[in-house]
Amino acid sequence: MQQETDVINSIEEIAKELKDAAWFIGQRVINREEVIEQAFCALLTAEHMLLQSRTGVGKSLLAEQIFSMFEGARLFRVQASKEQQPDTFFGGLDLEELKAGRIIHNTKGSLVESDFGFIDEIFDANDFTLRALLSLLNERRLLRGLQDVASPLHSVIAATNYLRVSEVTEALLDRFLFKAVILPDKDPFIQYQISQRYLVYGGRTAAPEKRISLARLQHMHKIITGRSEDFQIAITNELLYFTNIVIRHFEFLRNRQLSDHAKRGDGVDFYISPRTQAKSLDLLRALALLKGRTNVVHDDVSQLYFIFSTVGLPEEMALFKKAYTTVLNSLTASRGFDQVTILLDFTDLLREIKEDPKQMREPLSKFAESPVRRSFLDWVKEKFGSEQPVDQNRKLLEQFLTDFVPVCDEVRELFG
Ligand SMILES: Nc1ncnc2c1ncn2[C@@H]1O[C@H](COP(=O)(O)OP(=O)(O)O)[C@@H](O)[C@H]1O
Ligand SMILES: [Mg+2]
Repeated sequence: MQQETDVINSIEEIAKELKDAAWFIGQRVINREEVIEQAFCALLTAEHMLLQSRTGVGKSLLAEQIFSMFEGARLFRVQASKEQQPDTFFGGLDLEELKAGRIIHNTKGSLVESDFGFIDEIFDANDFTLRALLSLLNERRLLRGLQDVASPLHSVIAATNYLRVSEVTEALLDRFLFKAVILPDKDPFIQYQISQRYLVYGGRTAAPEKRISLARLQHMHKIITGRSEDFQIAITNELLYFTNIVIRHFEFLRNRQLSDHAKRGDGVDFYISPRTQAKSLDLLRALALLKGRTNVVHDDVSQLYFIFSTVGLPEEMALFKKAYTTVLNSLTASRGFDQVTILLDFTDLLREIKEDPKQMREPLSKFAESPVRRSFLDWVKEKFGSEQPVDQNRKLLEQFLTDFVPVCDEVRELFG
């Protein structure tokens, strides 16, 4: 039977509940509004979040305060350290099984059987243990040797003072879709408020009067992933297209920035996986839900930097916002949006040719599979009346760019 508290009457009602909870957290943890909103997005999308800062900036407090807003959820907390083995996370080894030569964790009370996890100082854990954690974080399964156990794990918040780079930490970072860096608070008034809270609470969290049940959070997750029968959050095709163009433009800017910085042009490539691209649609719906809307609007897209950059790093956030404004502005310019699309597509085409140069020896119409690429071919036909011999390909590609007249500054910038 469904509990009464799990009945959701309206999207506005959820939004209010989440807003109140975020407000409450913000009363205890000062000056963290944006990270709190980001954390709520992580919880709504059932993803993991990584908090990085120097010590004493309130990471542990923030994570604890966030989790304290939910009830009916099992929280597993651990402070990682070098000596720990996977059993710290997965439960002690079953000794009877061990005698028979099998490694089986007794998962009761471990991270495997928890809904939430708080892993403090995650990079202190050794690579062996971190590697074992990867599949649990990603697939929500404990997969070790003969043991294969499904896990209800909803979200993990991990905290760290530093980033340690190894092959496994790179894979681990990838498991944390949401990342934030918190810089120490310098503002005297903020410091004053922090001290003032300390006098009231010591280092402890504040006890909320109202908490959100885990079942309700799961229901919200269903809504934003389009699996609820009661509520839908709509994304129009136009917005879907717009989103993809913004993401691709961001990818383009990021790659250009990387190749500008790279001393040698060796394989620096920023790549957004289809998985992340798909996740961005969940995030858009989570953002709409947080604002009490049943539809996604352009402005939500501007907040996708919650997953495409590290929150708290102004330069990274600015780059995503730039991609957003460029595409938005070119939308309003006549034909500007089309031009951005064509240029980004053209960039992809050139990249493909670079990776597979023998394409240059094939008729250009081979490229015309996507609707936008056809515009390039239309241009060829309009200009020359018919498809040109393949030995003209290079010239054609160059000529296309020469003839391209940007209709607005944003498009012109793409040439840069
Ligand atoms: N933004 C903040 N708001 C409220 N208290 C804070 C804040 N930042 C730090 N503190 C205070 O500093 C203490 C140490 O924070 P802690 O969560 O242990 O930091 P970290 O985990 O980043 O090392 C907290 O218990 C709290 O009293
Ligand atoms: Mg801490």
